[in-house]
Parts: sequence; C-alpha cells; structure tokens
Amino acid sequence: MKGIIFNLFEDFVVEKLGAEAYEEILASAGLQTTEPFVGPGSYPDEDLFALVASAVKRMGVPTAEALRAFGRFCIPPLARRFPRFMTPHAHPKDFLLTVDAFHSTEVNKLFDGARCPRFHYETPTPDRLVMRYESERRMCALVEGLLDGVATYYGVPIEHAQTSCMLHGDPACVFDLTFAAREATP
Ligand code: HEM
Repeated sequence: MKGIIFNLFEDFVVEKLGAEAYEEILASAGLQTTEPFVGPGSYPDEDLFALVASAVKRMGVPTAEALRAFGRFCIPPLARRFPRFMTPHAHPKDFLLTVDAFHSTEVNKLFDGARCPRFHYETPTPDRLVMRYESERRMCALVEGLLDGVATYYGVPIEHAQTSCMLHGDPACVFDLTFAAREATP
C-alpha cells in the first residue's frame, strides 16, 4: 500500500486520539517497516492492517467502524490535494463513475507501484448506481466511509446497501447506491 494511505491514517488517529496515542499505536503494532512512511513509498499491506488492528484496540470499536470513520476522514484531504478529480463534477454519481478510471490511470501514474482497487458500474435508474468493488485487500468498510465522505463533499445524501461482500466469500463487494435530492445550502 502506498505511503499516502499510511500518512492519512496517521492524521486520522492523531485527530481522534492525539499524537502521543499514535506513537504508542505505532510502537505496539509490530510493523515490518522501521523507517517513517513517505507518501510515494510502497509498504506491506500487512503493516496497514497491523496499524488498524492496533488503533482499533485502543479506540475500542470494531474494525469495520474504524475503517468507515477513516474513509469519511480521507475525502476532504484527498479533495484538497487532488482537486482535479472532484471539482469537475457537480454530483456524486458523476464523480463515482470516474473512480475506477482515475485510479487505474492517473493514480497509477502518480504513485509508482500502486495496486489500485477496481470498480465496475451499472446505472439501473437515474437516481441509482450499483458499484462493484474488487480488491484482494477486501476493504469494503473503507469504501463505505469514502462514499459517506463523497456524499458530504457534494451535499447529496447517498443511501447505500451492500448486497454482496468478499469478506463473506462473494467474488466482489457490491454497493447499491441511491442518491437523494441535493441538501439545501444554509
Ligand atoms: C481524490 C480522490 C482519490 C485519490 C487521489 C485516491 C487515491 C488512492 C491511492 C493512492 C490509493 C492507494 C493504492 C495502493 O497503495 O495500491 C487508493 C486506495 C484506495 N482507494 Fe482511492 N483515491 C481517491 C478516492 C477514492 C474513492 C472516492 C474511492 C471509493 C469510493 C476510493 C477507493 C479506494 C480504496 C477502497 C482503496 C484501498 C485499496 C484497495 O481497496 O485495494 N478512492 N486510492
């Protein structure tokens, strides 16, 4: 996994628990990596999972809940750092339909050695989008949190039902999304 994800996870833990707690979580995670994580670097997936496990112990919440919170946390900093992926779109559906393409083209180019997730789409009705997520990392709870973050970013609530899950032996995680009307701006 690329260092940018480790850096975002550090920022997330520091915001939730503080810098001292992050250092303790890092020290007790038993990581293979000994040097500091840098954005363009590539590190073992196991190290991210170990850090998540160590943080979850400290937070006292289930892993899926922590990953969802992490996903929600990630969208504002990603949007600030990579506005070109999000600002051309006015609606989350239009943006989400580009997520597979920009991961497999630009993200792969920007982050040498990335192994990005794949998404496939169906649009059964104008207010729905069925997103099929495939990755050997099986981080569907992270996807859920990212979807919530995207909904907040565009001010359009997204109701999501997960109809199949790799963690339960299915070949992919499928999210059936329904977009609500845009929230009125105060
Ligand atoms: C500006 C927006 C985004 C950028 C720049 C971005 C970039 C990245 C990068 C660099 C990785 C690490 C890949 C690796 O280490 O192999 C990653 C992973 C991931 N991205 Fe994105 N991403 C963005 C938005 C999204 C959104 C909106 C979703 C889904 C709704 C998403 C789903 C994921 C997932 C689930 C992973 C974890 C790795 C995996 O499942 O295999 N990303 N992304």
